[in-house]
Amino acid sequence: MSAPWPKYIIHVDMDAFFAAIEQLLNPELRGKPVIIGAKPKKGKGRGVVSTASYEARPYGVHSAMPISRAYRLCPDGIYIPPNGKLYSEYSQKIFALLDRFTPVIQKISIDEAFLDVAGHPVFHQNDDVIPALEQLGREIKDCIFSETGLKASLGIAPSKSVAKIASDFDKPDGLTIVPPEKVQDFLDPLPVRRIWGVGKRAFESLSRLGIQTVRELRQFEEDYLEERFGKMGPHLYRMARGIDKRNVVPGEDAKSVSHERTFGVDQTDRDLLLSTILDLSEKVSSRLRKYQLKGKTIQIKLRFSDFSTFTRNKTLPDHTNLTEEIFNISKMLFNQFKDASKPVRLIGVGVSQLANEAGLQMSLWDSENERKAKLEKVMDQLQDKYGASALTHAQTLKAKRRKEPPAKGNTGSKSSSK
Ligand code: TTP
Ligand code: MG
Repeated sequence: MSAPWPKYIIHVDMDAFFAAIEQLLNPELRGKPVIIGAKPKKGKGRGVVSTASYEARPYGVHSAMPISRAYRLCPDGIYIPPNGKLYSEYSQKIFALLDRFTPVIQKISIDEAFLDVAGHPVFHQNDDVIPALEQLGREIKDCIFSETGLKASLGIAPSKSVAKIASDFDKPDGLTIVPPEKVQDFLDPLPVRRIWGVGKRAFESLSRLGIQTVRELRQFEEDYLEERFGKMGPHLYRMARGIDKRNVVPGEDAKSVSHERTFGVDQTDRDLLLSTILDLSEKVSSRLRKYQLKGKTIQIKLRFSDFSTFTRNKTLPDHTNLTEEIFNISKMLFNQFKDASKPVRLIGVGVSQLANEAGLQMSLWDSENERKAKLEKVMDQLQDKYGASALTHAQTLKAKRRKEPPAKGNTGSKSSSK
């Protein structure tokens, strides 16, 4: 018996996005292990992998892995530094194509989006829902491929979380449809790591409880999960059952904007670390303003010389995209690290819980912030006109004068909340 669909949600995620673009533009790279990221320097490189082509993945190379490790696993790979501008252009092109299928599109990152396709004419042409969705899914994939030369994987389901898992299910070049009556069978055998929102820490806690699969997670009562995991508990309980009423919200970006830097030499100098945090805060806030976004949660990430990596975050009462506010919170979070005297290898600043500027109410205490916002907008315009070096906060200048060793090319814009 088929159950009614509460929503028709499609999650589109491009395959090996950055690497696929490089392979598209340079035929010599096709069919070969291509690794986009920091320079490997014969295994001595200090940045991270942005992504790896599907040919490189059997070697064990994946996103966010230190490039030195990637080089050990795949010394014959072709290593290419990221070309952010090029990838953004492709991203914009793809989102513009998706617009043809529905106006209800929520961009999640540079290469993925949710579509709510409820009103699509394909449902008038087909009496059965599954063939209609299959036809629509193929049309979207064909459209992306014929107009950009790139392949996408699609997941189609009655909710966002299941659609997202489904797009990843049969990558690359996949199309996975999960109708409402099959949701539980689809989810049950999956590792809990696949659940949206289960990061490394939650995964480890679940493993300690002996929970490996969604089916095993379903054996636990909601109250018990709440006791163990706090707010995350009820979320896990619902996700394990495919219960997700979240709508596709056009213009909202559920992910984060972040920048990070790997130092040429591990750093202990607090002033330099703080200047770097300011520089990263400027980059993040300027990017937010460019896309007319504001975020509520500020996060900093520190990786120490022994590769131990920690994050701290704080959620504000109101959204912001001001450098000063992002920097102040980041600095406060940085100061919470008791181990901060250990040499630091990498620092990152990120802002998440993003919302569109236009849709946000100004809060009462905002007049001062409004003034700062105007000032920072002017700075952005000047930077766009005269280059990034035209205007910098005093501390950034100070850092530059201190002759910080050159940063490695591992600035990323994707959060790890996948
Ligand atoms: P993903 O969609 O996570 O990865 P992908 O498109 O390369 O591969 P897949 O087929 O598994 O979807 O991320 C999209 C792009 O974002 C990716 O090509 C590079 C960039 N990225 C980073 O720079 N750092 C990261 O840690 C991740 C996860 C992605
Ligand atoms: Mg992708």
